[in-house]
Amino acid sequence: MATSLALEPIPRPPGNPLIGNVLTVDANRQIQSLMELAEEYGTIYQLDMMGTPIVIVSGADMAAEICDEKRCDKTVRGPLKRLRSIAGDGLFTGDTDDPNWAKAHNILLPSFSQKAMGSYLPSMIDIANQLVLKWERMNSDDVIDVPKDMIRLTLDTIGVCGFGYRFNSFYREDFHPFIEALNRTLDTTQKMRGIPGEKLMKRQQIENLAKDARYMNNLVDEIIAERRHTGGSGGDDLLDFMLSGRDAVTGERLSDENIRYQINTFLIAGHETTSGLLSFAIYFLLNNRDVLKRAYAEVDEVLGRNIDAAPMLSQIGRLSYLPA
Ligand code: HEM
Repeated sequence: MATSLALEPIPRPPGNPLIGNVLTVDANRQIQSLMELAEEYGTIYQLDMMGTPIVIVSGADMAAEICDEKRCDKTVRGPLKRLRSIAGDGLFTGDTDDPNWAKAHNILLPSFSQKAMGSYLPSMIDIANQLVLKWERMNSDDVIDVPKDMIRLTLDTIGVCGFGYRFNSFYREDFHPFIEALNRTLDTTQKMRGIPGEKLMKRQQIENLAKDARYMNNLVDEIIAERRHTGGSGGDDLLDFMLSGRDAVTGERLSDENIRYQINTFLIAGHETTSGLLSFAIYFLLNNRDVLKRAYAEVDEVLGRNIDAAPMLSQIGRLSYLPA
């Protein structure tokens, strides 16, 4: 029988009487910890984070249930709430009953449409070519750090498609200072538990968090101010959409502060997820040669064997095996 969100009571791993399950999850391998608990307690279980209940679900059926917007809504708390120092009331960390969430949602929805993808495609290809060129020039005994190159790929793509900014990650050994600041911020906000004495123990990290947030917010503010000064990008990137878009319901525009939070949001939401997905996809393709063979065959069939021809949006839409 399929488990459902309505199942009661939801199993709960034993915890400490004072701090609940705060230490049940390993801060350094959170996803793996949660997966191990799912194996033990099932596709739905509950954790007590110092009095705050958190329900963890896993599996496609459960994921489909929580995507039902009539019954479920997102809640911004814990690590997500701490991320507000850089993502403010942007879409990811904003509450859905906040008027700014609905406004940004209405204004930004068209910029994630198929049609909008067409205007980002040349920039996506530009960055993808940088990756291909790098890998082509490597010797057979060189080691490729795939997750790092996937971060370079997705970050640079969202930088250019989002707001015409080049992180130029393929032209540097280390990451751009923005990314170092972003990673420190994500690390600190995700690993903080809200346990007594934590702020004292992590004073240095919390100070760094404030410093990093200032740096990131300033950099993005400068990009917005420059775009306002110079006019449009000449294309239709996300920043253009945000500067020119009006909410059809209220007629209002986004404030510069909110646009800053959306840009930081897209940088976070747009590069970590996609690079993780691509790294895993490559790992599994290499370990499942039959699947890889089928993927190659589809690419050859739909895109053709001319490696110099850039893929067109209509061709990408015809790929079915690869997206699956
Ligand atoms: C494999 C890629 C991705 C995965 C797995 C993923 C996953 C998710 C998930 C699970 C949520 C829901 C979070 C919640 O409700 O609490 C979410 C929300 C969001 N994602 Fe992604 N995402 C991906 C790519 C992207 C990209 C490329 C962007 C932007 C360029 C993006 C921007 C957002 C935004 C803005 C939200 C908040 C939506 C809202 O509440 O209005 N994501 N994503």
